Amino acid sequence: MATKKKTTRQAARTRARAPKRVCILTGGGDAPGLNAVLRSFVKSATTEHGIEVFGSEDGFEGLIQSGKLVKLKPTSVRGILPRGGSILGCSNTANPFAYPTYDKRGRRRDRDVSTQVLERIAAHEIDALVMVGGDGTMTHAQAMMRLGVPVVGVPKTIDNDLAATDYTFGFDTAVSTATWAIDALHSTAESHDRVMILELMGRYAGWIALCAGIAGGADVIAIPEIPYDLSRIVDKVQKRADAGSTFSIVVVGEGAAPAGGRKATLSKGRRGHLERLGGAGAHMAELLKRHIQHDIRVTVLGHLQRGGSPSAFDRLLGTRFGVEAARLCATGKMGRMVALRGNDIVSVPIAQALAAPKLVPSTGQMVQTARAVGIELGQ
Ligand code: F6P
Repeated sequence: MATKKKTTRQAARTRARAPKRVCILTGGGDAPGLNAVLRSFVKSATTEHGIEVFGSEDGFEGLIQSGKLVKLKPTSVRGILPRGGSILGCSNTANPFAYPTYDKRGRRRDRDVSTQVLERIAAHEIDALVMVGGDGTMTHAQAMMRLGVPVVGVPKTIDNDLAATDYTFGFDTAVSTATWAIDALHSTAESHDRVMILELMGRYAGWIALCAGIAGGADVIAIPEIPYDLSRIVDKVQKRADAGSTFSIVVVGEGAAPAGGRKATLSKGRRGHLERLGGAGAHMAELLKRHIQHDIRVTVLGHLQRGGSPSAFDRLLGTRFGVEAARLCATGKMGRMVALRGNDIVSVPIAQALAAPKLVPSTGQMVQTARAVGIELGQ
C-alpha cells in the first residue's frame, strides 16, 4: 500500500507544471455564485488556454466514487449564471481524509481514502485540481498538495470569514436575503408590538449578522465576536418602548452567546467534520422573556441565506475568480488561491488563506458604524 501511494504521488509530481487536464470541484456547503465560477473557469480554461476540464460531482465524491466525473465544455455551462447552487453539486461530508463509511451494524467509521483519490487522478491523467470552497476545502487543498497534487484554490463562503480575500462570493447575496428578512419582520413586529429575534448564519464570524443588521436597521445585533450582556439588550428594548417604539428587531449571529455563556449547537463536531451551530436566537429569547413584557418571536432564516439567484456582485466576483483561476492554471502557478484585494483580483498562497479566520474586529469600523447609528451590540 505504501509503495502504491508513493508511486501515485510521484506520478502526480512529475506531471507538467502548467496543467493540460484539470478537474474542478465545489467543496463544502453551496453559496450563490458557484455557477458563475464554473462557467467562467470552463469557458476561459478551454477556449482561451486550451485546457481540458473535468468536474467532480458533489465535492470530492467524483474522485472517490466512480461515475461522478464529468467532462465540462462551454456548452455544459450554458445558461447557468443566474442559477443558485452548483451544477456539480456540493458536499461537506466527502472529506478524502475522513470519509464516512458504515460497517454492517450501521456504525460510522471515517476512513482516509486519499490513496483512492490519487489513483483516480492518475487514472484520468488529471494534472491539477481547482478546488472551490471555504476553509475546510482549503485545508483539504493543502493536504492534497502535500501528496503531490498541484492545486489552485477559489475562496467561497457566505460567511466571508476567509483571511486573504476581502470578500468571498455568496456573502453579498446572503446579506441581501437577510436584509429582506429584517425588512419583512419590521412590519409584523410593529403591528403586534413584539420583539422579533432573527437568527442568521455565519458560523463563528458575525459578518452576515452585522452587515444585514446595519442594512436592515436592526435595533440590536449580537455577534460571536462580542459576547452580549443581556441587561444592555433589555435596556435598549425598554428605552425604545419608553420613546414610543413598542417593537424591536434583534439580529443574532448563530455563533453569538451571552457573556460567560456557551454558543448554541445542534450537533457536535468530529475529526474532519464541523460542529453544527443553531439555537442562539431561541436561547436569547429564553433569557429575554424573564425581563421584558413584550411578546417575543424567533425566526431562523437558515438555508434561505445560501439559496436563490446570486446578486450581480456575486456573479461578477465569481466570474472574475474563475477567469483568474484559469490563468493561474495556464501559467503553472499552483498552490495559490485567487482573492479580492480592494478592487483587484490577486492570488495568494493557499496557506495564507488558512492563517486565521477573518472575524469581525470588535472595535473596527463596521462595529463603530453600527454603534454610531444607535444599534445596541450588547457590550
Ligand atoms: O459555512 C456556511 C454555512 O452556511 C454556515 O453559515 C452554517 O453554519 C453552515 O454552513 C450550515 O451548514 P449545513 O449546510 O451543513 O447545515
